[in-house]
Amino acid sequence: MTTSVDLETHYTSRHDEGSRLSSTLKGQLELARVRDLLERYLPEPPAVVGDIGGGPGVHASWLQKRGYDVELLDPVQRHVDQAVAAGIDAVQGDARRLPWENEYFDAVLLAGPMYHLPEAADRRLALREAVRVIRPGGFIAVIAINRAANLIGATLANKLQQREKIVREILETGFSPDNERMAETTYHTVTQLRTELTNAGLRAVTVHGLTGPGGWLTVAIDAHFMDQPLPASLSDPDPLQTALACTRMADQYPELIASSSLLFAVGQRA
Ligand SMILES: C[S@@+](CC[C@H](N)C(=O)[O-])C[C@H]1O[C@@H](n2cnc3c(N)ncnc32)[C@H](O)[C@@H]1O
Repeated sequence: MTTSVDLETHYTSRHDEGSRLSSTLKGQLELARVRDLLERYLPEPPAVVGDIGGGPGVHASWLQKRGYDVELLDPVQRHVDQAVAAGIDAVQGDARRLPWENEYFDAVLLAGPMYHLPEAADRRLALREAVRVIRPGGFIAVIAINRAANLIGATLANKLQQREKIVREILETGFSPDNERMAETTYHTVTQLRTELTNAGLRAVTVHGLTGPGGWLTVAIDAHFMDQPLPASLSDPDPLQTALACTRMADQYPELIASSSLLFAVGQRA
């Protein structure tokens, strides 16, 4: 079995992060929900936002258009080049050693490092750094991947038997060395994510289902109709709107957080 590849190889030659949030229904739902939740927690512009693990800068570009000053950091050179080409102030670097001074940002987005750092000690360092560079009272928003996502995704694709060992390892430990689809990826439970943020000293920690149960509609449609027109029975009403309505409704019920493949956690620096 192929084992997981390193970050640089994955994002440079196997995966186009620049189109991930627009080319599939699943990506479009994630994008809409990130905007939903950022609008809820970010202070009004002008404010300085750090996008740590910001990739090619899709969120940073949107924030910049809304009047925020954004600075992005990412370890993958291709992403930094794409972000700079999009007009974003971007540097190559690592979430565990940030180049900014203490209390530099009004808000920080950490959408990547927490699921690409399999060692708990590395995630602690990344959170400690994020806390260091944010001003007291500022919000840190973190995206993580739910441990249940592989089980539900493999089942929806009817591939549970082929992927059973990987799915079990991820359910039990949050990591599988044979998880060949992703680069160095680790998965959280809802409780674990909440605890990691709380242990970093953040207060008022809240975890949301980012893609929610509606995300599974987008996964099913992407899997069966990628690049093909949807049959009328599935295109009206617009399935993206259905998925969004479902996920926004589920967001009001904390018991439903665990049905989401992606988790969005926020906490405030004391
Ligand atoms: C799936 S992309 C997400 C990009 C963007 N934040 C978004 O949410 O659309 C994950 C990103 O995390 C970055 N990343 C992984 N490990 C990191 C680390 N240790 N420090 C900073 N960024 C990291 C990757 O290079 C990649 O750009």
